[in-house]
Amino acid sequence: MKSLQAKKGLNGKWALVTGASRGIGQQIARGLAAYGCNVMIHGRQLQHTEATQKIVSAYTVETCCVAGELDSDEGIQTILEGVATGPGRVDILYNNAAVMSKAAPICEITQAEWMRVFKVNVFAMVQLCNAFTPAMATRGYGRVINLTSGIADQPRLAPYSVSKAAVDKYSRDLAFEYREQNVLVNTLDPGWLKTDLGGPDAWHEVESVLPGALVPALLEDNGPSGRFFAAQDYKYPAD
Ligand SMILES: NC(=O)c1ccc[n+]([C@@H]2O[C@H](COP(=O)([O-])OP(=O)(O)OC[C@H]3O[C@@H](n4cnc5c(N)ncnc54)[C@H](OP(=O)(O)O)[C@@H]3O)[C@@H](O)[C@H]2O)c1
Repeated sequence: MKSLQAKKGLNGKWALVTGASRGIGQQIARGLAAYGCNVMIHGRQLQHTEATQKIVSAYTVETCCVAGELDSDEGIQTILEGVATGPGRVDILYNNAAVMSKAAPICEITQAEWMRVFKVNVFAMVQLCNAFTPAMATRGYGRVINLTSGIADQPRLAPYSVSKAAVDKYSRDLAFEYREQNVLVNTLDPGWLKTDLGGPDAWHEVESVLPGALVPALLEDNGPSGRFFAAQDYKYPAD
């Protein structure tokens, strides 16, 4: 177990956390706010973001709520407009929202199911990276954290696990593209957590994703990029 080492906080930065209305994204939003980071809280609908906004309001940071379905161009456009009319920039992007596959024998999974999962877990992530990473590079600062999974040997959930393999490869390519501009792109495995997606039998409580989930956001300038981080490897430093 490693101790979270952060030389400085995230004061004045703006983070967009997709899927921050519940589950892991809600914890990430809370953890970022505790480090002084302003947070854009995303959910499919604005009212879904209220609980997280209440949690984050305990910290002296700014918040902004954005809504939109990630499986449609219209939904993604609404999110981009929400960012533009809000803080106008994203310094730290957590592509956290994802959907799980419906379990089925691998060779009976329909094209529609593959598309449903890939639209949210892969194509939306790419569109958000397209929208925000070039401006991060121009400003000379950016952190992109794409949520992956340690899922293995679950052929009945292939659309989900293959989508995460795509997240891993895409993230390494994006990292290489921006390696000279202090835009650090990394993947984060939160561990198997009790959330709506992880289910009640998961090994860990959702709160255990902190502080590890913050490590790739708190990296020093020109730090590691194109790497894999496991949230469960980290604990808060002793007082
Ligand atoms: N839980 C685990 O054990 C586990 C393990 C490995 C990796 N992960 C990864 O961790 C991330 C978060 O998972 P989680 O367990 O926190 O999931 P979750 O509890 O099911 O929460 C999903 C979040 O994504 C949003 N979302 C779902 N479908 C969406 C769509 N079509 N468009 C826009 N937003 C959508 C939801 O918004 P609404 O509230 O508005 O519906 C919600 O905020 C995912 O990338 C997942 O693959 C989780």
